[in-house]
Formats: sequence, structure tokens, C-alpha cells
Amino acid sequence: MTLPATLTPIEDPLWYKDAVIYQIHIKSFFDGNNDGVGDFAGLLQKLDYIVDLGVTAIWMLPFYPSPRRDDGYDISDYRGVHPDYGTLADLREFVVAAHARGLRIITELVINHTSDQHSWFQRARRAPAGSPERDFYVWSDTDTKYAGTRIIFCDTEKSNWTWDDEAKAYYWHRFYAHQPDLNFDNPAVMEEVLSAMRFWLDLGIDGLRLDAVPYLIERDGTSNENLPETHDIIRRIRAEIDAYAPGRMLLAEANMWPEDAQVYFGQGDECHMSFHFPLMPRMYMAIAREDRFPITDIMRQTPAIPENCQWAVFLRNHDELTLEMVTSSERDYLWETYAADKRARINLGIRRRLSPLMQHDRRRIELMNGLLLSMPGTPVIYYGDEIGMGDNIYLGDRDGVRTPMQWSIDRNGGFSRADPAGLVMPPIMDPLYGYQAVNVEAQAAGQHSLLNWVRRMLEVRRRHRAFGRGTQRFLYPGNRKVLAYLREYGADNGHGETLLCVYNLSRSAQAVELDLHDFNRAVPVDVIGG
Ligand code: BGC
Repeated sequence: MTLPATLTPIEDPLWYKDAVIYQIHIKSFFDGNNDGVGDFAGLLQKLDYIVDLGVTAIWMLPFYPSPRRDDGYDISDYRGVHPDYGTLADLREFVVAAHARGLRIITELVINHTSDQHSWFQRARRAPAGSPERDFYVWSDTDTKYAGTRIIFCDTEKSNWTWDDEAKAYYWHRFYAHQPDLNFDNPAVMEEVLSAMRFWLDLGIDGLRLDAVPYLIERDGTSNENLPETHDIIRRIRAEIDAYAPGRMLLAEANMWPEDAQVYFGQGDECHMSFHFPLMPRMYMAIAREDRFPITDIMRQTPAIPENCQWAVFLRNHDELTLEMVTSSERDYLWETYAADKRARINLGIRRRLSPLMQHDRRRIELMNGLLLSMPGTPVIYYGDEIGMGDNIYLGDRDGVRTPMQWSIDRNGGFSRADPAGLVMPPIMDPLYGYQAVNVEAQAAGQHSLLNWVRRMLEVRRRHRAFGRGTQRFLYPGNRKVLAYLREYGADNGHGETLLCVYNLSRSAQAVELDLHDFNRAVPVDVIGG
């Protein structure tokens, strides 16, 4: 079989292990046609910026046709581009340009649910009960089935069932009521999903984030999360991707404890990558408590994963900083510390960006980024955090962390020439974080800016494979305010390297003694300064 050019196998099938992923929102990145909404034309113009930053892959939030009541995670057509963002041709042009610059593209495969505006749902609600069309979704005559299932969007939803007057039945949804869950017990659903996946692979997409993947299957008497049948579905998706487009990657969004999250790797036959959700809040916990324990403890609980798999590590993303993977007393502590203002809280998390969480303290922002870039896994950087952008907790839902990228001091922060009133989202304008104070243009010019610091750190990371592929060994110095670990790679083939990472988690200077007797004759070299 000859594959189309976009489907030729990728040279290094483990490319995602050495990647640094930059997460962006098309709508908020750059507006190419000045209609107030970011678009693919704008993104293309900013490709050089992304390349210069030193990342190797771009993860784009959903850009598909959608009523956008969940910011695009409510998809009404799996094979298109929302007209506000451009056309399929624009997207194709962008993918080709990104590939030409050596960047890989990761998009979303949101398969747990669709929008209620999707033609499948409109068809389902009208079709007779029990018909294959109706069975694209999960229905019930009562709203008491699957009673043991938690509600994820607990601030807005009271039930996982919503009555549909047209169908005269309740439909199942793990997220907003306008996002009915697809029924993966119906083989026709699986076929449609695989076909949509091939469509994007044909377009040259290198990786797919499997949104909300633990919730695909429902079974009586269970929590309806992480069920074995859900893993069967993922293995089916993986087999298809391996056969159809070798070298492409699946990234699981499974907000679970390490022992449940690692199941999403399977025996190396499910997802290539999975977010390390429990590590994230523990990095915030460690610096708040000035104690390394939350980090060493969660990494001790993190099982070894198959050779071809990789964690994705992150500090922030487009959602709330989720505190689902901590105990309730830890959650209260983190809420008190980082979200004393209750408006900053949503569901079980905090809707703030990194810089405000660090109270604008450059040294703590660097500390957190240092952890991000040196913990085992592939780092994911959320757009705007590389310049220390702020947020707006007065906006609804999680919009406050999705405001326009701040490019310069020009109108709308250089994001768009449109009338400010017509912008998709108001830019940040407060004196500390507003675009007058925080923007790419100024930081690109400043040698010691956060932006240039991030660029330098990414350059350091690129020079050392041990960051992406190495093992991690903690040192346990007596002073618990100091976190120290070794990242080791390739010792067995004689070209090995050992990186020693040391972090002072406290706000004051600390003395520490590290036991490095294994490296008796070695001479340490500072990887940053040489
Ligand atoms: C996405 C959210 C979205 C939810 C429902 C999540 O996991 O990250 O932004 O609201 O899925 O689609």
C-alpha cells in the first residue's frame, strides 16, 4: 500500500518523548482578518514566534464547527473548521507550514460527547427508541440510572441526565447538559469516530488529545470511570492509528490518580502519552508549604510506564487548575493559599494563570517552570504563560484564562485591529498584567525578560536528551525545603549523561548537603551558564 505524503511514517516514532508542547487557542492567539476573533491566518503569521520560542509541537484547542457553549468542546461537526477561524484550506496551509518548520501538530479528538446541535443528536432524538440512530447516544426512561456517578461540572449541573422532550427520554451527559455522551456500545459510533480520526490524520495531524477519555462507557453499579470496556475502545483506536498512520500519537486526558492514569498506557498499546494530573497541584503545594514531600511522595506512587510511553507534565492549561487529585484538606489549603478570592474558584479548582498564582513573583515563576522542564515527561506550556500573562476572574466559566495573547502595546494588545467592543474576549488591561505592561514585543527586546528566560531554558532542555527520556532518582538531603534529583540517560551505552536538578522550594536561602558519592570523580558543569 502506498500512503499519501502526509501519512508516511514518522522517522522517530518516539518523537513525543523529546517534545515541548505549546498549547494555544486559535480564537485568542492572533486575529489575521481583524474581525475580532483569532484565526488560522493569524496563527500562520505568528508561526515564527512559536518556532523562536523553541517548542517542538503545537496543541490546538478545538477549532471545529460548534455553538461554542463549552468553548468548542461541544462539537457539531467532526470534519470542519469553525467559520470564525477560517477554512479547512487555511488549516491545511498552516499544518504544511508548521511541518516545514519542524513543528508537529496536536489536535483534539473529543469523542465522549458531541454538541446537542450535532446532526447525530438531532437525528437520534427524532428516531424511534431502540433504533440504531437513537442509539448513538445513551438514553433512559428515568434519571436514577447509574446513580453512583459523580458530577464533574458540579457548579452548573445537578444531574448527569437531562430530559429531552422530543425523544421523550432522558439522555446521559458527563459534562454540560448540552453535551450528550456518545454511546460506544453502538459499533456504528466507533466506526464514525475512527473515520473522523482518519480524516484528521489524512490532513497531517501528528497527535490527538483524547478529551475526557475515562468516561466513554457506562455500566450499572460502577462509577462509570476507567471501565475495562473503555480501555477496549482505546486499544481499538490505537490499533487503527498504528495501522493507518504509524508514528502518530495519542494523548489521554484522564484526570486520575497515577495508578488509574497509567492504565491509559495499557501495555504500550493504548495511549502514547497521558497527562500527569496528580503531580500538577503537588508542585503548587510544595512551594506553598516549602516542602518537597508532596512531589517526592506522588512520584514515589507513580508506577513505571511502558518504554514507548510518556507522561505529559503541565503547570496550567485552558481549564481550571483542577484539585480533584488531592485530598479535601489539601484542596482547602490550596484554595486558601491560591484562591482566597472565591471568584477565582470554579468546580473543584482555581481559574487563574501561573503568574497571578505566583503573585507576579518572577523567581517563583522560574522555579515552577524549572520543575516543569525537568520532571520526567514532556512539558506542556500554556500560551501566554511564557510572558507571565494575567487572567480575569470576572469573566464567566474558564474564559478568564483564555484571553487574547498580548503581543504589544497597540490597540487590543496587538491581537486584533477590530473595534475593542467586537473582540471575542476582552484583553487583560489592569496595571500589573495588562498588555501595556506584559507583552511579547517588550519582552522580546529585553534580554532579561521572562520570555527570553523561557527561550534560554528551552534551549538548554533541547541539548539534553535525559530531560525527555531519562530516569529520575531523588536525593533526600536532610533539608526538606530542598528538592534534588538526578535525571540519567544512556549510561548503558557509554554515552550517558546525568543531570542534577536542585530546587530551593522556600522563600529564603537554604543550606544543603547532597550525597553524590556515586559521582566521586565527576566534575559538575552548570548546564545553564556552562
Ligand atoms: C476539557 C474541558 C471541557 C470538557 C468537556 C475537558 O476535559 O479540557 O475544557 O469543558 O472536557 O468537553
